[in-house]
Amino acid sequence: MKPKVGMIGTGYAGLVTGACFAELGFEVLCGDIDQKKVDLINRGIPPIFETGLADLLKDLRDKNLLRATTDTSEVVQFSDIIFICTGTPSTEDGSINLDQIEAASKDIARALKDAEGFKIIVVKSTVIPGITENFVKPLLERFSGKQAGVDFGLAMNPEFLKEGLAIQDFRVPDRVVIGTEDEKSFESVKILYESFTCPIMHVDTSTAEMIKYASNAFLAIKVSFINEIANMSEVMGADVSEVARGLGFDKRISPQFLRPGLGFGGSCFPKDVKALASAAKSHGISAHTLDAALKVNESQPLRAVEMLEEEINLENKKIALLGIAFKPDTDDVRESRVIPIAEELIRKGATVIAYDPLALENAKYFLPETSILVDNVNAALRSADAAILVTEWDELRNLGPEEFSSMSGKLIIDGRRVLDWKKLSQAGFTVKVIGNVN
Ligand code: UDX
Repeated sequence: MKPKVGMIGTGYAGLVTGACFAELGFEVLCGDIDQKKVDLINRGIPPIFETGLADLLKDLRDKNLLRATTDTSEVVQFSDIIFICTGTPSTEDGSINLDQIEAASKDIARALKDAEGFKIIVVKSTVIPGITENFVKPLLERFSGKQAGVDFGLAMNPEFLKEGLAIQDFRVPDRVVIGTEDEKSFESVKILYESFTCPIMHVDTSTAEMIKYASNAFLAIKVSFINEIANMSEVMGADVSEVARGLGFDKRISPQFLRPGLGFGGSCFPKDVKALASAAKSHGISAHTLDAALKVNESQPLRAVEMLEEEINLENKKIALLGIAFKPDTDDVRESRVIPIAEELIRKGATVIAYDPLALENAKYFLPETSILVDNVNAALRSADAAILVTEWDELRNLGPEEFSSMSGKLIIDGRRVLDWKKLSQAGFTVKVIGNVN
């Protein structure tokens, strides 16, 4: 009999993971406090944009393999394995905010009190090393009156899902990491992954938590590293695309995450790097590499504004921002690098006109309120004095002289090194590129 799975939290990680477990044939019940999200999921409609999720949810609903409820106790009663997938945003000082983890742990514990059988609680949320053992476990024990490892199991199973590719990343992971303090919890969670061919690591919970943070932090450092190499290449006359290609041939480096641009955004890299650095410092340990990666990431988007100012005075100018989402194929604007760019442009007296194929709705909550949001690229370019390509959507990569000619100015900043610089230059445009071009 396949174990039944409960997902507490239906964000990018929780809903995709629940849907993919259901696709593997496990019965899944998702729990969320947001009734609107629950209703959408029960109609087979994802409350978030994620490639392939709409079709998957609809199919699962038709097969009655995935449902949602606002009742956490129903999820606990139904499930043999319950995942905590609630958010862990940053607090003001960059440290991890555990409010949602605390609320979910207490709700699960209260339901665990009267529950039958040996249930396994699995933390999937990205939490600082030690949180599962020293924060979640005491809450579960205190509010259930039961003992971890004896009356219920406890594990930590981080996700490594990229937005826009999350379903693929679940289906074909590089590794599965399961952190437990006891054997039974490990064996129970391992059953969910028995069809996977990748390495399955059994570590303790703190090690599992650190593998997740160290993975994200390393990838973020890699991005900031290539961005600094791009800035150096600009002034030293190197072609950073070829530099990145040369690095990538080294198997120890790999070609991935060496795309220079305006920096990293999203709901993970910025918050995870800040949280790990903050946790290290709270233990009296320096985090110089993490601090440096964040510092580069804060200044990098402003390079685009500096490039504009090398050519024009920004006062009263109209600047088209092409792309708002933190990366292509998502509607997520959290920590997008367009935010500091828009804020700086407005601070310097320019007018911002921003376009994105998918993220306009979310843009309203993140861009300065004086930003003008438009639903097509021509409306952004029309009569703009200059344009910055911020997010490398396919639609935007292919823009050429014809589209840009509706601008009143001739200045284009390619923040992601994806435009046809030669064709645009030959058409009389001044194209400035992060990392320059040779
Ligand atoms: C990341 C991790 O990749 C994933 O494993 C983890 O589970 C969640 O966080 P995500 O934030 O969805 O995933 O996006 P990712 O594709 O990693 O890109 C993160 C940011 O880095 C984006 O803003 C992207 O534009 C930027 N980036 C990425 C670069 O600037 N250059 C690169 O070469 C790669």
